[in-house]
Amino acid sequence: MTSPRHTLVILGASGDLTARLLLPGLGQLLSERSDLDLELIGVGSVPMTPAQWRKRVTASFTAGGASAAAVESVIAASTYRVADATSPDDLKKIFADCAGTPAVYFALPPAVTEKVVEALSKMKLPTGIVLALEKPFGTDLRSARALNRLLAEFIPERQVHRVDHFLGKSTVLNILGLRFANRLFEESWNASNIERVEINYDEQIGLEGRAGYYDKAGALIDMIQSHLLQVLAVIAMEPPSTLDSDDLRGAMAQALRATRVWKGDVPNASRRGRYTAGTVGKEKMGSYVKQPGVDPARGTETLAEIAFAVDNWRWAGVPFILRSGKALADARKDIVITFRPVPHLPTGMTGRNQSSQLRIALDPHRMELDLNINGEGDPFILDAVTLKATFADSALDAYGEVLEGILTGDATLSVRGDVAEECWRIVTPVLAGWHKGTVSLDNYAAGSSGPRAWKQLPRP
Ligand code: BG6
Repeated sequence: MTSPRHTLVILGASGDLTARLLLPGLGQLLSERSDLDLELIGVGSVPMTPAQWRKRVTASFTAGGASAAAVESVIAASTYRVADATSPDDLKKIFADCAGTPAVYFALPPAVTEKVVEALSKMKLPTGIVLALEKPFGTDLRSARALNRLLAEFIPERQVHRVDHFLGKSTVLNILGLRFANRLFEESWNASNIERVEINYDEQIGLEGRAGYYDKAGALIDMIQSHLLQVLAVIAMEPPSTLDSDDLRGAMAQALRATRVWKGDVPNASRRGRYTAGTVGKEKMGSYVKQPGVDPARGTETLAEIAFAVDNWRWAGVPFILRSGKALADARKDIVITFRPVPHLPTGMTGRNQSSQLRIALDPHRMELDLNINGEGDPFILDAVTLKATFADSALDAYGEVLEGILTGDATLSVRGDVAEECWRIVTPVLAGWHKGTVSLDNYAAGSSGPRAWKQLPRP
C-alpha cells in the first residue's frame, strides 16, 4: 500500500546541507520505503536549469547509495525554482504547485528561517502541512521562545519537526536498546554506581568555509546546545513506557529540565578554546582567525567543554562532561561511562583494579566494556580486559531517519518545542559568562588534542 502523496519542498535547495546530507538521506529513504509516494521541489536563490537540478539530485542520491530504480521517477518529476522563501506570494505559488501535502524543509540559516515562519503565519496554509526546521532553533533563549510562540499561533505542534540529526543516528538510538533491554546496565545506571559521564565529539575538520554561520555560533551553540544535550537526555532519562513520541520525548524533556551547569559555577565548570595554525593528520590548517569571513573580535570558540549536573535522585553528584571541537588530533566521538570502584575488594586480591568504563563510540558504531578479572598465572592478581561489540548498521543514515519521521508524520525523532527552549536555558549562563570574559579563550594548535594546560573538568 502506498502512503498518501507528499511533496517535500526544500527551502535552501541550492545549499551545501541539501546536497551533502538531505538529498543523500532522502535517496536512501526512497530505496527503503517503496510505499512512499513523493514529489520533490527544490527552492533556492541560485538559478539552476531543470537539467542542472536533476543532475544535482542524482549525484546526491548516488552518494547516499540509493538504488537507481527506486529514485528514478522522483528525479524525473522533480523541479527547482528560484524564489524568495520569505515572500508570502512566492510561497503561495509554490504550495499551489504541490501535488501532495507539503512538508517544508528549512535548510536555511536561523535568521532566514524566522522570516519564513513569519511569512507563513500570515498565510492560509495547505491542510496537513508539515514544517521541518533545521537546528539551531533560534539564536538564543528569547528568540527560540518567540519562534515557538509564533508557530503555536498557526500550526499544531505535531506538524512541526525541529530537526536534530543526532536523534537519527543509529548509535544514539542504540543506547535505548543497550539501556532498556539489559538488566545488567539499567540496574546500575545511577549515581550509586556511576562516577562520571563524558560525551565527546571531537572533529578533525576545521571551519570548511562555513564562517557565515559558525563564527556567530561557535562550538557551544553548534554542537553542545543542540546535539550533545540530546545525547545527554537519552543517557540520563528515566525508562519510558513506550518509544512513542509522547513517552520518549517526555522522558527526555524531564531529564533536560533537571540539567544545569555544574554547581552553577561557569568559571569552574566550563572552558573554551580556539585553534591556531597546525597540521591535522597530514593536512596543514591555517588558524581559525585567518579564515575568510571570521571576525577575530567575536572571540568565537572552536572547542567547548562544559560540566553539567542532572539534579535528580538518579544522578545527584555525577558530572556529565560534554565536549566538542574542530581541528583536533583525533576524531574522538564517544560516550564514556565511568563506573565507581567496588566498595570492597577482598583482601588478598592485588594488581590492577581500575574503574570499569563503558565506552559507546558514536562513530564508528562500537561499544567496549572494561572488566577487572583474574590475571594470567596467579589468580589472585587482577587484570583488566575489554569486551568489544559492534553495533549493527541501520539501513538509513541520520538524515534518512529524520526525513522518514517528517514524511510519515512521526515526531519521535524531532525536538519538541519545550525541549528546544530547555536546551537554550541550560547553556544561557555559560554564554553570558563567556560573553563577560569570566572564562579565558585558550589557544590550541590545529591537530593537537586541545589547550595544553587543560585539566579534567569539573575543577574542584
Ligand atoms: C552539524 C554541525 O550540525 O553537525 C557541524 O553544524 C558538525 O559543525 C556536524 O560538523 C557533525 O555531525 P556529523 O553527523 O556530520 O558528524
